[in-house]
Amino acid sequence: MAAAALRQVWVRKLLPVPWLLCGRRCVSSNFKAADLQVQVTQDPQKKPAPSEPLLFGKTFTDHMLMVEWSGKTGWGPPRIQPFQNLMLHPACSALHYSLQLFEGLKAYKGQDQQVRLFRPWLNMDRMLRSAGRLCLPAFDKLELLECIRRLIELDKDWVPNGAGTSLYVRPVLIGNEPSLGVGVVTRALLYVILCPVGSYFPGDSMTPVSLLADPTFIRAWVGGVGNYKLGGNYGPTVVVQQEAQKKGCEQVLWLYGPDHQLTEVGTMNIFIYWTHEDGVLELVTPPLDGIILPGVVRQSLLDLARTWGEFRVVERKITMKELQRALKEGRVREVFGSGTACQVCPVHRILYEGQQLHVPTMDSGPELILRFQKELKAIQYGTSTHEWMFPV
Ligand SMILES: Cc1ncc(COP(=O)(O)O)c(C=O)c1O
Repeated sequence: MAAAALRQVWVRKLLPVPWLLCGRRCVSSNFKAADLQVQVTQDPQKKPAPSEPLLFGKTFTDHMLMVEWSGKTGWGPPRIQPFQNLMLHPACSALHYSLQLFEGLKAYKGQDQQVRLFRPWLNMDRMLRSAGRLCLPAFDKLELLECIRRLIELDKDWVPNGAGTSLYVRPVLIGNEPSLGVGVVTRALLYVILCPVGSYFPGDSMTPVSLLADPTFIRAWVGGVGNYKLGGNYGPTVVVQQEAQKKGCEQVLWLYGPDHQLTEVGTMNIFIYWTHEDGVLELVTPPLDGIILPGVVRQSLLDLARTWGEFRVVERKITMKELQRALKEGRVREVFGSGTACQVCPVHRILYEGQQLHVPTMDSGPELILRFQKELKAIQYGTSTHEWMFPV
């Protein structure tokens, strides 16, 4: 089929071939786990003692996965190699133009000592979508997942055992063009690194956070890329996070539009459990309309709550005016963020237009947050394989 005709098919969303949009020929468009080359380290690092606190993203395991891609030859064989620095050309396109994307997922050691990944298929889907958005090369999601499984298997002694601990998995795909031109890259690098982690925020999983809601800062916008996990979405948020801290808040509540819609909390999706204006008890989170990252934990909470069928579960816009009114009328039960790093994180205060809004999340138990945390924990650290878990 001629490229133009195939492009038409892609435009009609029938064929997942984003690289065709970028005018590339099809060359070895997948790498295969069967071709994995494994080089085991001769210099294993000391693993953290079980009593040592595991700060997020500071400790790395002994090995990493590396796969190189070139426009001429396609994907090379995947390699598991000792953890090491990258050597990059100073003009590398990831460094200049943010041609970079990443993922974040976790592996848990169950009570039976089996290590399992939580819903990794959703991360593979999201990563492939991000690659398409940046014209970075596509890959076979299941082959990448199998390579990640082999990497974790090799470093499985690094998966911590303590309560609330896990192995954070960070896949990255970067454009590696040695040129200052802005354009489709002819070289890319996919790699995966692993970190044993404890809790994301200081304190335990029930320590509530406070939020700065300032509409002058915008994380994502309609037609933008907020729904993709691109590095370029995160760097510019650091100064806003710093602003929040200066104002005595721990996180940023990202607002959007003239009606100040609530979109996300820091690097988490947001949920409100309340009695809606129509008198119905509901769990609400903003819809995936292009400015929200489709979080894996977000999806999981929606799935769990829909299975329970005990209250209405909706994906709908929420504005600050609605939240303020509900707070005033005592209809809000719980506000919380969801994400891989922290799972479910309660919110107890919002600084908005110079006013400190007290959110009564902690006054109710918080019943729903505790239930979600308990269910997720049972699935993630359980002794039997739940359909959401992928054994390593
Ligand atoms: C902006 C943003 N929203 C939401 C999330 C939560 O996504 P997930 O549940 O897949 O971790 C993340 C995760 O890092 C994020 O960066």
